[in-house]
Amino acid sequence: MKTLTLCLATVAVVGAVMLTGGCKKSGGDTIKVGEFASLTGKEATFGISSHEGTQLAMEEINAAGGVLGKKIELLTEDTQSKAGEPATVVNKLVARDGVIAVLGEVASSRSLEAAPICQQNKIPMVSPSSTNPKVTETGDFIFRVCFIDPFQGTVMANFATKTLKAKKVAVLTDVKSDYSKGLAKFFKERFTANGGTIGTELDYNGGDKDFKAQLTAIKAANPDGVFIPGYYTDAALICVQAKQLGLNVPLFGGDGWESEELVKIGGDAVEGNYFSTHYHPDVGSDVSRKFVENYRKRWNGKTPNALAACGYDSALVLGDAIKRAGSTDGQKVRDALAATKNFQAVTGVITVNESRDATKSAVILQVKGGKFNFLETVAP
Ligand code: PHE
Repeated sequence: MKTLTLCLATVAVVGAVMLTGGCKKSGGDTIKVGEFASLTGKEATFGISSHEGTQLAMEEINAAGGVLGKKIELLTEDTQSKAGEPATVVNKLVARDGVIAVLGEVASSRSLEAAPICQQNKIPMVSPSSTNPKVTETGDFIFRVCFIDPFQGTVMANFATKTLKAKKVAVLTDVKSDYSKGLAKFFKERFTANGGTIGTELDYNGGDKDFKAQLTAIKAANPDGVFIPGYYTDAALICVQAKQLGLNVPLFGGDGWESEELVKIGGDAVEGNYFSTHYHPDVGSDVSRKFVENYRKRWNGKTPNALAACGYDSALVLGDAIKRAGSTDGQKVRDALAATKNFQAVTGVITVNESRDATKSAVILQVKGGKFNFLETVAP
């Protein structure tokens, strides 16, 4: 009672602006949107980049007047790159904070952990960049603004066949990651359909430090290349140890390689290697150029990567859906998200398809002089 009285007094004296900070719990003065991201831990750069894009989009939406006459309040939770955390923090966002929608995660396994909570509570969830098909298969409240791994696997298999002219490839999979297992499978399907052979198939556990046993076996099989569908910390160490063992063939992966840490950890050993991802600042529309400019201004001159672009797009698509829904009701926002069509985003034009995924192009990048150089765009 006391808080409420105080708040009302504040409103009378200082005006409605104070409402945001003054009496959050008593009214719907803002529209609360949750975000869960790996801001610390093994995949910290994923969460940080994605969050920077997401926050920039929210600030731009708010600067342009917000949605439904209100400002969006972004509540961000750290998953620490750990299993178990996504469920904890998303439960908190939904049950305690009362968010009307959730943005996240980057890593497919963490999106898969939180998606059933959003689905059960009828809270729309939009993943910026989780590519495993199972994420949106969780249910009709779960969306993503990126392509999926059956496409990404095909892109890299065709690249191995046509550009690298590889006939025999080894695959090294992180068995702890749904992303890695899925991407390995889709890659193998297409590469063998192209007439190639998978010479060696070996596993590791995300977070391992020693890959010498697997790499020694791979080297003995004499492949034309090694596909490593993992995340940057592991992928970089694998490249370092492959070089130490004299395994001098192209090493290549998917979007999970995208981090400045890949080069910091991998150094020389990652030079010349390849990966596919969602976006590169050198290619793109006017929307993309504007985004690069605004991102640099907002984040101390940093150039945005694919994670930042996908994070930005996830927030824009959600903001647009809330506007079209004319309401923050979960079912209505869900319906509006499902109806997203020809939305000009930074990573491309987004139309949400019947599986609640986006059909978009991939880009292939090569590590050159410690930078990620754009090689080609592959349309779906
Ligand atoms: N696609 C990865 C996954 O599903 C996450 C990722 C997206 C990593 C974009 C890097 C860049 O787990």
